[in-house]
Amino acid sequence: MQIAIVGGTGKEGSGLALRWANAGHEIIIGSRDAEKAARVAEELNLALGNGAARVRGATNLDAAQAGEVVVLTVPYSAHADTLRSVQPALSGKVLIDVTVPVNPADITRVSVPAGGSATVEAQRLLGPDVKVVAAFQNISFTHLKKLDTAIDCDVLVCGDDAQAKQIALQLVQDAGMRGFDAGPADNAIVVEGLTSVLLAINKRHKIKGAGIRITGV
Ligand SMILES: NC(=O)c1ccc[n+]([C@@H]2O[C@H](COP(=O)([O-])OP(=O)(O)OC[C@H]3O[C@@H](n4cnc5c(N)ncnc54)[C@H](OP(=O)(O)O)[C@@H]3O)[C@@H](O)[C@H]2O)c1
Repeated sequence: MQIAIVGGTGKEGSGLALRWANAGHEIIIGSRDAEKAARVAEELNLALGNGAARVRGATNLDAAQAGEVVVLTVPYSAHADTLRSVQPALSGKVLIDVTVPVNPADITRVSVPAGGSATVEAQRLLGPDVKVVAAFQNISFTHLKKLDTAIDCDVLVCGDDAQAKQIALQLVQDAGMRGFDAGPADNAIVVEGLTSVLLAINKRHKIKGAGIRITGV
């Protein structure tokens, strides 16, 4: 699959890029700066080894245009503006939103945005023609970057379109994790908030990658 990662030059986006490219997907890293994207893509290809060339760079809009599925990994402060900038390329596509609306002043305290969650805000902004799915909010980039290590965390997937969630669940599996359909887009408020809970646990235990496991399934 051709996967575009808008904001893919950052920590979480490049971690996902690495995992998906390693699973055989073609990745287009998006950035506000095409040269920066090309640089990061090259670094990721080197990290993949064996002369891999499955990652390339582009502007955010060009990446979104090329992607069959589009993934968004930008800070919440850039969420709405970035969505508006790529909106013309999203028609009829699945957008996997990884954004967590953390408050930079205290990332360990749950911060609920005006629209309830970044996911619901994205769906409202983009309209029904784009299928927005929330996923990967609770997985630290530190795990994604260690390609030789299995990831001991699960991923919750929320959204209102069953088919779009199936695509996201497949991509969770391809990234080396177990995914769970965690209900409608409205549930993303909890999944996004859970990230601040995990960050509080990280702080308390002086660790970097607390995650979640679903039991009883
Ligand atoms: N880091 C994690 O472990 C983790 C885990 C789960 C969820 N998340 C969530 O995933 C999202 C990305 O996290 P991250 O740690 O990858 O963030 P990041 O590295 O700080 O930023 C990601 C990318 O966003 C773009 N960006 C930054 N400021 C921007 C602005 N003002 N306008 C437009 N684009 C801007 C940059 O790309 P260009 O400069 O190339 O345009 C940057 O490389 C956040 O919402 C975060 O809460 C992160």
